[in-house]
Amino acid sequence: MEVVIAPAQELAVLAADAIEALLRRRPDAVLGLATGSSPLKVYDELARRHADEGLSFAGARAFMLDEYVGLAADHPERYRNVIDVEIASRVDLEPGAVRGPDGLADDLPAACAAYETAISDAGGVDLQILGIGTDGHIAFNEPGSSLASRTRIKTLTQQTREDNARFFDGEVDQVPTHCLTQGLGTIMEARHLVLLATGAQKAEAVHQLVEGPVSAMWPATVMQMHPHATVLVDEAAASRLQLANYYRQTYAAKPAWQGL
Ligand code: F6R
Repeated sequence: MEVVIAPAQELAVLAADAIEALLRRRPDAVLGLATGSSPLKVYDELARRHADEGLSFAGARAFMLDEYVGLAADHPERYRNVIDVEIASRVDLEPGAVRGPDGLADDLPAACAAYETAISDAGGVDLQILGIGTDGHIAFNEPGSSLASRTRIKTLTQQTREDNARFFDGEVDQVPTHCLTQGLGTIMEARHLVLLATGAQKAEAVHQLVEGPVSAMWPATVMQMHPHATVLVDEAAASRLQLANYYRQTYAAKPAWQGL
């Protein structure tokens, strides 16, 4: 696992560099997209590169991590709509190239199974962008999630609903209670995991993710078992890392050609 500690804008550039390198190598790459605040600067940087430098997503496909259950099709916080606004509509992804779990399906377990099939039919995800919850969730795999879980319905913790109330006019009761989420086992099959975390509120979760024992209590710790995981954090999110100086030295001495 590689840990890079840098200001938020630099982290976004690094993540965008990795996505750009992938798209140049493989124009039909399969991207994994996260919602929430953490990836927003990355999406801004990708949109800028598309507009200013011609970076093309025309051959790419993308899969979302998760979706709320039951939010109306036109609800602005439905993750499908958030992803359209934040990235899909700002680049040249083909209509239909972005898929997400269907939180409005009549048969939710069938929708989850269909989503797993769609990911594997696409050949799997090449690069998965991730954020982390203050309780250590990735996607919406809340504490106690099976480390081998697949796409399924989950109940959001009170903590996550409170954290996300800022997207719902500060009203926690407006935050759905359930979601569909890729499982930890699903996420672990992506070929490169790139997690972004900023701010002191993420410091404990980041410490557990990188340095804690692998445990369903901190679901993100499963990333320690991934052969190619990159953790991009600012100083505040890195503030509880015991080996922060080692990560800094390692990154400072890294050959430039190596990339993330
Ligand atoms: C969103 C997702 C979540 C968020 C996490 C952090 O698709 O999968 O795991 O990444 O809740 O959210 P932010 O980035 O808003 O702090």
